[in-house]
Amino acid sequence: MNDNQSHYIPGLEGVVAAQTRLSHVDGEAGELVIAGFPLEEIAPRAAFEEMVYLLWSGELPTARQLEEFRFLLAENSRLPAAVLDVLRAAASTGVDSMEALRMTAGLLSLDLPSDSQGWAQDAALLARLPVMAATWWRLRSGLQPLEPPPGMGLASSYLYMLRGSEPHPAHVRALETYLNTVIDHGLNASTFTARVIISTGSDLVSALVGAIGALKGPLHGGAPGPALQMVFEIGDPDQAEAYLRKKLESGERLMGFGHRVYKVRDPRADVLAAAAETLYRQAGDMRLYELARAVERKALELLEEYKPGRRLQTNVEFYTALLLHGLEIPLELFTPTFTISRAAGWIAHCREQQRENRLIRPQSQYTGPRDRRWVPLEKRTESSGAS
Ligand code: ACO
Repeated sequence: MNDNQSHYIPGLEGVVAAQTRLSHVDGEAGELVIAGFPLEEIAPRAAFEEMVYLLWSGELPTARQLEEFRFLLAENSRLPAAVLDVLRAAASTGVDSMEALRMTAGLLSLDLPSDSQGWAQDAALLARLPVMAATWWRLRSGLQPLEPPPGMGLASSYLYMLRGSEPHPAHVRALETYLNTVIDHGLNASTFTARVIISTGSDLVSALVGAIGALKGPLHGGAPGPALQMVFEIGDPDQAEAYLRKKLESGERLMGFGHRVYKVRDPRADVLAAAAETLYRQAGDMRLYELARAVERKALELLEEYKPGRRLQTNVEFYTALLLHGLEIPLELFTPTFTISRAAGWIAHCREQQRENRLIRPQSQYTGPRDRRWVPLEKRTESSGAS
């Protein structure tokens, strides 16, 4: 065994591969710090644009800076015509929401402010994502796409474009709390992807496309849809145990539970559970919220029974599903909505990586054969394995 082999760590678990000022995840204490603020302190209070400004600059904006930043986002939110064409094609052929987002994110290069114009390029990439997600949804639903209305913040305008009417301030607050909660999270898989891409000297659009591809997988950002489906399928707290046991006995994973870093409860789950409770209470119907709570209790009990010692806890995706459903955001847009927020974190990480760049290039451990000898084509047989 050589040195490389002795250092192989599957999934890079526990490996420190970057230094960052953006966020800190303490998986044992169940703490998340965003640019110095405990998550619980900032997520329910800040407007989403304030949170983005904080990540991109290191400081919260003044009122004037916030107004200018909102203006910058708004003036860069228009989609290139080719993006609309591809979204139309994606919606009519049944291409799913994250594939539509990934395909069209690449096309944003067609009409992008130059990288030397301060934050203009970053703002354009961020501000166009909600328009792309809402446009895909409206076309898919046989509706005309809507443009972001002037003067509206990103969260309200996203809800407006989905619904076609101005959202209630309580809904905007709940969505902003969600977007703030998931904006950044250490070196998660999609952020790592973005940093690897940008570390080669590549561009921000390439990093965005790669990160979207990483986020869409069910082990990362693709879990909230299946988590909500599970709660719907259970339907009644009395059915939870039989349903969950069946899944666990057949070796399936329960979506919305477990995390690579958190071995105690994901603090984001608590922030989102509180926001969901407020939302459902305001709507005057707590049935789904209470069902989800009952499913969560039973799932945790059974995970401890089936996977003792693995310390599997509720993750952010379980309450994401409940909150976004309470906001009438369709299931197909759960992961795109996550993307809208996390893109702000990816961009911040890319800029940080560029400032302190060193090519990210780890090593692999070779486990294949050695000393093979060349066999001319005419002498190769299938049974000899052509060797
Ligand atoms: N349900 C049932 N069993 C689970 C679950 C789960 N949700 N999560 C982990 N396990 C089990 C594994 O099967 C494994 O069992 P074993 O030791 O008997 O083989 C053990 O717990 C350890 O699991 P790992 O795969 O080593 O954990 P890892 O750190 O790789 O996985 C992950 C983390 C991918 C999030 C996992 O918990 C999972 O698949 N969860 C469900 C999907 C999900 O909710 N994803 C969203 C994550 S949050 C985010 O990315 C924003």
